[in-house]
Amino acid sequence: VDSDAPIVQFVDRPGILDLGWGHPIAAALPVAEWSAATEAALRDFGWQMLTYGHASGPGPLLDWLTEHLLQTDAGRTRVAETFVTGGASHALDLVAALLVHPGDVVVVDSPTYHLALPILSGHGAEIVGAPADHCGIDPAATADLIATLQARGRRVPLLYIVPTFANPTGRNLPDDRREALVEMAGRSGVTIVEDDTYRELVYAETAPASLWSIAGGRPVVRIGSFAKTVAPGLRLGWLNAAPDVIDAIAQIGYVDSGGGVNHSVALTMATLGASGAYDVHLDRVRQLYAGHRDALVAALQVALPEIEIESPSGGWFLWLPLPADLDAGRLLPIAERSGVSFMEGTAFYKSAGGEDHIRLAFSHLGPSDLVEAAHRLAAAIQVCEAPE
Ligand SMILES: Cc1ncc(COP(=O)(O)O)c(C=O)c1O
Repeated sequence: VDSDAPIVQFVDRPGILDLGWGHPIAAALPVAEWSAATEAALRDFGWQMLTYGHASGPGPLLDWLTEHLLQTDAGRTRVAETFVTGGASHALDLVAALLVHPGDVVVVDSPTYHLALPILSGHGAEIVGAPADHCGIDPAATADLIATLQARGRRVPLLYIVPTFANPTGRNLPDDRREALVEMAGRSGVTIVEDDTYRELVYAETAPASLWSIAGGRPVVRIGSFAKTVAPGLRLGWLNAAPDVIDAIAQIGYVDSGGGVNHSVALTMATLGASGAYDVHLDRVRQLYAGHRDALVAALQVALPEIEIESPSGGWFLWLPLPADLDAGRLLPIAERSGVSFMEGTAFYKSAGGEDHIRLAFSHLGPSDLVEAAHRLAAAIQVCEAPE
């Protein structure tokens, strides 16, 4: 049968090196390892792989994951605090469904992961950007913002943040702000949704302690994903929350009706993890993406010597400041005519901000394409800056 329906989300634009896509490079996707894990999981679990799964996720994945999280973070996470989801996006949607009522205010970091915004507003929330500076969200000013909203009679159930190897900035929230934020949320009665999607893509030092481990549970819900470490097509992630929150999610109608989310894939992931193949794979992709980052950073440093390039120590993104007076919206069409594209900084702000930055994803293109993209970008910036 002929079908024009595409297979994948990525849309190729011939001639354009597109640094807008936060997708993995095909070479990082573990096709052979996943195939072997699927076979082994079917052999080991048999019919249990193909029936309805346990609501909060199959035991083998919960056991492996909670052990594994102990190696990637400061504190212990218990099985009773874990729910397996269809990715981080689904985890955020579940938490919002549980905690957000139409008309509530949800506070988000400035800038923040842009695609979280429609998930949150889809539950009827008004979204407000938190005060932030170069180091990230400002806990004291955010406490004032929340107090003002609450004094006006607004409910503020959630604060959403990506504090570790952030999308879009690649930065880590400093430890003192992590502690202040957790303390502030507890005082204000706000649940922090910590999007910890990039924790394991760490290229230099170890990742900072999560808000989840600093708080030891409430008021934090942490969401995680196998999309960046293994493959986005798995649609597999998790959330960590206090046991009563996990119980409430496990009782949501479609979980009760359909059993655990994405059960067969969850069991395959448990097999990949327990076999040691996950650790080997993760080492490989860390090295691969660190190489991508280094190629892009070095090329930008040479091509744009007047711009200070901040090299991220994890994640997939470089947050590039533009020369003074150059607006990302003016640069984009000229860059695309030069064969390179990116995301404008404004996409990541709820209200004003971001005109003076662009986000460059270094995950999807290999080192030689990244170097060429940096040259094209520098040429486009020069065109914008040339006297008319
Ligand atoms: C910060 C952040 N959260 C969540 C996601 C989506 O994760 P998932 O594919 O697990 O839904 C992304 C993907 O780009 C992301 O950058």
